[in-house]
Amino acid sequence: MKVLVTDPVADAGLDRLRDAGHEVETDYESEGDELLDAVTDANALIVRSGTEVTEAVFEAAPDLVIVGRAGIGVDNIDIDAATNHGVIVANAPDGNVRAAAEHTVAMTFAVARSIPQAHGRLVDGEWAKGEFLGTEVNNKTLAVVGLGRVGQEVAKRLDSLGTDLVVYDPYISEERAERLGAELVEDLHEALGRGDFATIHTPLLPETEGMVGEDELAQLEGGYLINCARGGIVDEEALAKAVDDGVLAGAALDSFAEEPLPADSPLLNVEEVVLTPHLGASTEAAQENVAVDTAEAVLAAFDDEPVLHSCSTAGSPRSRRPTRATSPRRTSTSSPRAR
Ligand code: NAD
Ligand code: MLT
Repeated sequence: MKVLVTDPVADAGLDRLRDAGHEVETDYESEGDELLDAVTDANALIVRSGTEVTEAVFEAAPDLVIVGRAGIGVDNIDIDAATNHGVIVANAPDGNVRAAAEHTVAMTFAVARSIPQAHGRLVDGEWAKGEFLGTEVNNKTLAVVGLGRVGQEVAKRLDSLGTDLVVYDPYISEERAERLGAELVEDLHEALGRGDFATIHTPLLPETEGMVGEDELAQLEGGYLINCARGGIVDEEALAKAVDDGVLAGAALDSFAEEPLPADSPLLNVEEVVLTPHLGASTEAAQENVAVDTAEAVLAAFDDEPVLHSCSTAGSPRSRRPTRATSPRRTSTSSPRAR
């Protein structure tokens, strides 16, 4: 069977597929019509966040059995189209959780202590010791928005550093929050209003898109916003303005509505904003974990076995379409590519 890999994925996973006798082709450059050509004879497609897997991709790939997402977020994959085409979508929701949580903690300290800014001044030859007065997380309140896998790991780590925890997540039980010593509140504004730091850990869904805008940022007045979840949840223009105007003390972001972040993003011009290029899952361990988990999902799908972590309703062997040998109808995709 042929496995097409369109975003960089660790060799540990790709070797597992090769060892099982499958052909693995990597193509990290093709976009638009080239991507549609590349996927024509693929039986599996493996992606991270950089490939937009649109309806057109499913139409172009008649023999596709599974799309493996080597990571958590599946917002770059049209799940409804996958279901309609009988294609399984499986993510790897466990392997990069600790990496994402550690990056969030690192970003919290980076912005609270102006570490990138101070480093920049030092390498420019300036000993700006008197110009940076940071904020401790100790004895502060952390508002966690979304207490799922990553949110819980962030909460545990920052709790152990002396923060009080307030949580907004309408889909969890009070017990989950209590187990972490956190207070669950019913209103996003209340959580942000009580936080000195607020960290976002929801998926990007129609419900969460634009969830943190000007009004919400105003609730966090004087505090810091950290978003290592997904771009699009926070209104970037409103955030840049809030930090620039001094409504917020700072912000740290790892993910953006458009990736790579456009050169004209207002976030790039605000001194107290710390940015990383979607590095949350970029550790050796996390990349090996998600690559191996994704390879296992592909192998299970090829063997017509149940696939763990299936996100489309094509996840059970009985619901899958038979593979076809017909040529696909060509349509185009114009999604931007960012890895
Ligand atoms: P998860 O599904 O385990 O948890 C998400 C939580 O958000 C759930 O508890 C859910 O109830 C909650 N939620 C859903 N809608 C909500 C709403 N409207 N308001 C408040 N809470 C809501 O997901 P996860 O594995 O913890 O991942 C969290 C986010 O981090 C995702 O967006 C994921 O894509 C992202 N992520 C980013 C990186 C990175 O590299 N930056 C790495 C891993 C994960
Ligand atoms: C994820 O959702 O797992 C992240 O986007 C990590 C990634 O694949 O870069």
